[in-house]
Amino acid sequence: MYSEKVMDHFTNPRNMGEIENPSGVGTVGNAKCGDIMRIYFDIDENQVIQDVKFKTFGCGAAVATSSMATELVKGKTIYEALQVTNKAVMEALDGLPPVKVHCSLLAEEAIHAALWDYCEKNDIKIEGLTKPKNDISEEEEEEEY
Ligand code: FES
Repeated sequence: MYSEKVMDHFTNPRNMGEIENPSGVGTVGNAKCGDIMRIYFDIDENQVIQDVKFKTFGCGAAVATSSMATELVKGKTIYEALQVTNKAVMEALDGLPPVKVHCSLLAEEAIHAALWDYCEKNDIKIEGLTKPKNDISEEEEEEEY
């Protein structure tokens, strides 16, 4: 059911933990499954993500997608990080079962929420970045899988 990469990132998650005094932090949840994900960024003066950590209170796929998402955004600029979609995370994990697609959405939204927090603190506007939702399950109902 799960790819080897998903199992690897679930059993051995990368970048788990938290950053003290982060440049940006974002928390999102999905009220339907009850899972919550928080992402912390340490961003330097060139707007490059030097460090990233996550905490996920959720299912195995949520842990694996958080882990992979943090790997994908590390070392990237805030603009490049915005391009890391849930599809990119899923591809990097060699796919997820259809019922677990929403878990990867949590990772994408948590990245956006942390970017949003950083941009607000630093008075930066990124095109395409909108105010994050705390609960993404509302949005999901409109989407089809
Ligand atoms: Fe909801 Fe995985 S079951 S995030």
